[in-house]
Parts: sequence; structure tokens; C-alpha cells
Amino acid sequence: MVGTQHAARILVASNRGPVSYTLREDGTLSSRRGGGGLVSGLSAIGPDADAVWVCAALSDGDREAVREGVGEDGSRMIAVDPLTFEAAYNGIANSVLWFVHHMLYQTPVEPVFDEDFRGQWASFEAYNAAFADALAQEAAEGAAVLVQDYHLSLVPAMLRERRPDLRIGHFSHTPWAPPDYFRLLPDDVAEELLAGILGADRAAFLTRRWADAFAACCVSVLGATLSADGLEVSWRGRTTRLGVHGLGADGDFLRERAHRPDVADWMETLRAETGPGRKLIVRVDRTELSKNIVRGLLAYRQLLDDHPDWRGRVVHIAFAYPSRQDLALYREYTAEVSRVAEAINTDYGTLDWTPVLLRVDDDFARSLAAYRLADVALVNPIRDGMNLVAKEVPVVSDNGVALVLSREAGAYEEMGRHAITVNPYDIRATAAALHTGLTLPDADRADRTKRLADAATALPPSRWFLDQLHALGD
Ligand code: G6P
Repeated sequence: MVGTQHAARILVASNRGPVSYTLREDGTLSSRRGGGGLVSGLSAIGPDADAVWVCAALSDGDREAVREGVGEDGSRMIAVDPLTFEAAYNGIANSVLWFVHHMLYQTPVEPVFDEDFRGQWASFEAYNAAFADALAQEAAEGAAVLVQDYHLSLVPAMLRERRPDLRIGHFSHTPWAPPDYFRLLPDDVAEELLAGILGADRAAFLTRRWADAFAACCVSVLGATLSADGLEVSWRGRTTRLGVHGLGADGDFLRERAHRPDVADWMETLRAETGPGRKLIVRVDRTELSKNIVRGLLAYRQLLDDHPDWRGRVVHIAFAYPSRQDLALYREYTAEVSRVAEAINTDYGTLDWTPVLLRVDDDFARSLAAYRLADVALVNPIRDGMNLVAKEVPVVSDNGVALVLSREAGAYEEMGRHAITVNPYDIRATAAALHTGLTLPDADRADRTKRLADAATALPPSRWFLDQLHALGD
């Protein structure tokens, strides 16, 4: 299918694709398959469907793979020039759009919309146009195109201009900012982003809250009108239907994967590292500003102050995997996470008890081992589109888990009732929630875990993906 023109009936477009390539020292390429909801969702349509996944070349290895024509069947990598990519990805997508939707700016001094920003915005337009070109080239007459996430907000309108015959969907995996915050963006940029997504027939979100915020932005910024149910946005003679699809955990895959020998080995290692019989508070995240890892650690510290009887009897396992380390703020945040964890260990640790076990290298099997062992799972983001960790832990938990969950995570809509919910900014309340989680009676914990697991697997990735295709009329 690679390179075939006008052949694909189903197309997916996302910045990060299913495979990444690394250039070895001897000049050869090694490849690595990624995981995530989109990869398992796409597998639901089977290998025979005429499907193509269009993604960006993210690294030198990816760009070399494109040059050599190396690639997986059914995927097409786009190699825009590295400076354009850098400005679009790090400059706009991760430093502006991510910050707006997660409301991360320190607004007295940020954001700054200067000449650099304007250059980056032009790169973002060029990068989105490169996707629109590739999709227009690959799509068969009337094909369904599923465009993913904030990196590609402009693609739907650009693609419609090139190929009015296509059925186009856009899916946002992030929250959407409310109008007062979204309007931080320069007016023309705010308008172009909304108009870009409204180029789609359907614009879908992980929760109703994010869909409503998008609709409110369309009304406030563009003067669009809404249908009575709030789920149809009309603007300039076209109507875009909004959808809500709360991506869930892949229960079958997780349960099978969590019972392989490498996970059992990791469970033994973690038990040895944390000490037998101790309660475990577990968190697993990208080291991401919006995940609120530092406040999570401070809440744990507060727990040890408020309830000294927990000292020596509990360990906080914090897996914080590297993410977006090209950005200075992320490097600083990573360092801060380590500093705070080390300070807790220095101030409270004893000869035979290390209060925090921080690990910063990514290992999925080790994460699953921690999920299985967890007594309490801490998921306290400032703001999060969904948060799959909250959904994965109860599915694989061995002995039941109490979920401490931020009310600002998308997962809260489906799981909040069975979790111990927190205001993510309130460290003292988070400490109290950790204590409640640790002391939850066994029967209550077992009951909640079952309800959490049911809610978490209600819309597995395969159904999530097919639902979107069906909504486009496939
Ligand atoms: C979020 C976004 C995804 C992104 C992922 C990892 O979940 O919604 O689009 O792929 O973070 O971020 P990265 O910048 O490493 O792709």
C-alpha cells in the first residue's frame, strides 16, 4: 500500500506514528513499535482493509527511513524539513497549543507572541499542509480520514479544500480550553485553529466537557451557532457534528500482558526494593507539567507529616518517564521531580526504609508490575484529556486498588464515582485522600476496583476507533 496513489479507503493521520526508527552508530536502522490506544484501535479494522496511517518523521532515524524508502505496510511517514518540524512540534504544538488546552501558562509573563512565534506559526501551517497534501494523495474517492490531535488542527479544513469528496473526522486527545483562556491566542490564530477543525464533518472529544468548551470557543471567537443539543456547530454555511468517545483501556491485552514472566520478575524486584509488607502508593506518568508530579510528591510528604504512623509502612513508587526533553521547562520540571523525591528520602528515610522509589526510565513491564502491586494509585493531573493510567491500574490490580483521582482528568467523568477524588492543587486534601485510600476497608476497595475496571473497559480502543468510523458513515 505504501506510495499507492488514491487507494486508501480509511486513513489515519497523527504526528506520532506506530513505528519509530533509530540510526545506529554503524549507519543502520533499528525500528521500535509504539503502543497506545490508536495502535490497538486501528488493528480493529483488520489487515485487509485499505488503510493508511500517515505520520511525521520525528527523528533523524525516521528521516533516514523515509530517505531509504524503509517503512511498514500501511503507513506513510512525512519528512518535512527538520527546522520546520521543530518549530511546528516544539514551538507551536507542545509550547503553545498544549499549554493553552492544559492551561499551563504563568499568565503575568506568558505567553509571548513575538516574531519568533509568527515564524513558528508559519511552520505549523506548512507542516499541516504537508499532511493535507499526503492525505489528499493517498485517499480513494469518498474515503474516511481520521485526523488526530492538536498537532493537526488545521488539517481538516486544508484537506477539505483539496478533496471535498472525503469524509473527515478530527479527534482531540487533550482537553479543550474554555473561551476565556483560549482567547489568550492572537485572534487570527484562534480563528484559524477553530476553522481548521470545523473543516471536519465530525469533531470528537474524550469527554462532553471538552466538546462543550470547543463549541463555546466556536461561538465566542467565530460567532458560530449551536444546535439545541449543543452538538452541532454551524459556521459559514457548513455544520460540524461534535462527538464524545471516552477512549477506554484494552482489558484483554492488559490482562494478558500483565501476566507474562517479565512482569512477574519485576514484581519480585519491586517487592525486594520496597520491602515486604509495606503499602504501595503508585503513580506512572510521562514527566509532564500537566501531570502534577511535584504536588503529588509533596502530598505524600504531607501524609508522612500528618500521619507519622505511616513512616516505615508505606512506599511511594513514582515512575516518571522522560518526555519532550527538548523543552527547557520540561528539563527543569524533571530535575525538580528528582529534587523533591530526594529531599523526602533524605528527610524521612531510615536505614531500612526509602520512602520514595523514583524511576525515570521507561519500562512498560515494570509499570504493569507496579499496577498489579499498588494499594493506592495516584492520578492527580492539573488537567488531562482522559488519563489512561487511571483506567489501566484497576484492570490489572491483583488485590484491589484505591484510586486517588483528580477531578480535572477526563477519566473523572466515567470513574469519579468509584474513586477518591481530589482538587489537584490542594496538597493537604491530596494527602488526606492518600490516607483514605490506604485505610479503605478491603471489601470497599474490592468493590470499587471492580466498578472502576468495568467503567475503564466500557469503550476499548477497537470500539472507540470503529465508533468514529461509523459516525463518519462507514
Ligand atoms: C499526549 C498527546 C499525544 C502524544 C502524547 C505523547 O497523549 O495527546 O498526541 O503523542 O501525549 O507526547 P509526544 O510529544 O511524545 O508525542
